[in-house]
Amino acid sequence: MKLLELYFDNAATSWPKPRAVDQSLAVYQRTVGASAGRGAYPRAQASGQILSGCRSVLTRLMNAPDSQRVIFTLNCSDALNVAIHGLPWRRGDRVLVTPFEHNSVLRPLHALKDRVGIAIDVMPVDSDGRVRLEKLASVLRARTRLVACVHASNVTGVIQPVAEVGAFARRKGIPLLVDAAQSAGSIPIDMAAMNIDLLAFPGHKGLLGPLGTGALMLSKQIDLDPSRQGGTGSLSEQEAQPDFYPDRLETGSHNAPGLLGLWEGINYIFHRGVGAIRRHERRLLDQFRKGIGEIPGIRFFGASHGADQAAVVSLRFKDEDPRHTAARLWEQSRVMVRAGLHCAPWAHKHVGTFPNGTFRFSFGPFVTAAHIDRALAALRRLETSSLRTKR
Ligand SMILES: Cc1ncc(COP(=O)(O)O)c(C=O)c1O
Repeated sequence: MKLLELYFDNAATSWPKPRAVDQSLAVYQRTVGASAGRGAYPRAQASGQILSGCRSVLTRLMNAPDSQRVIFTLNCSDALNVAIHGLPWRRGDRVLVTPFEHNSVLRPLHALKDRVGIAIDVMPVDSDGRVRLEKLASVLRARTRLVACVHASNVTGVIQPVAEVGAFARRKGIPLLVDAAQSAGSIPIDMAAMNIDLLAFPGHKGLLGPLGTGALMLSKQIDLDPSRQGGTGSLSEQEAQPDFYPDRLETGSHNAPGLLGLWEGINYIFHRGVGAIRRHERRLLDQFRKGIGEIPGIRFFGASHGADQAAVVSLRFKDEDPRHTAARLWEQSRVMVRAGLHCAPWAHKHVGTFPNGTFRFSFGPFVTAAHIDRALAALRRLETSSLRTKR
């Protein structure tokens, strides 16, 4: 990538990664190469140690109850599918969600609605889009079997009061599923203190690991049925999937090179500290929010206060199609942002930006104040320049 290009799409996947993450694939191929749990020789054991090392740093990072209840997945969508399809749904069961859920929650739920006959209820939210805790009891139904809450919206960045939603769900004896796609690694998460039963997150965004990594973590209060079966390297004489974790939910050879990269990404996060990363991103967010407030024609869709927002900012320029604006940002200023619905149509309906959506800036731990200045300069340039390349 040329020096002048600016990447602001960390909500899709983080870039750049720490150097050790970049090197991890080559390190794995050179020094390990084997598949975990598939051999008694030292390299296969080394691969197994990478998996258990990665499980244990994730357990520590999220204050999870048991490293064996860390299930590796392909990404956050896969983790959400393992969680949602692993629950024992019956016709007439209900799920309570926020209006800011991603399609990776909504589509599995809609599939269950069609196939099994479940119903989806929506939590009331305030003008910022934060769950109105005092109204939760009024939307709870006798057959509500799951509460699903996105930690931070990938459209508005708004952070939900997950701990309070968790306390409510625990009091009612209903499991809480949290989609931490936009918070894992950049906003503190404590599974025990927040009463989270199912925590789904990608390894490739805030945790700074490579694409192709993610995980689902289970509390001791929850059990899931496997929605797929296959080889686990354990109890091979048995026809049924093993019933212990992680083998119950993890099938087939692992992405061990990717998980070595994820482990390195988490090591970087421990070294810098989630709290310090949040403070850094908060400073960038405040600088950006202040700057856009002074640019004519820019409309902002986010929280009233930076404290309630992850480093994700949705904007529109006048009444221009956001895809056109994103194309202009690239053509004029070599700025990379994502435009459209961001796989979260409900969120856009809620903030009034459906169907064209917004263009979205998202920052990461390696973005600097100078980068934000250049992003703001690029936004100011929108007024004066027009698109050179027609698309
Ligand atoms: C809120 C939210 N949930 C789920 C996902 C899906 O994550 P993944 O791309 O790792 O499947 C995303 C990705 O952008 C997201 O922002």
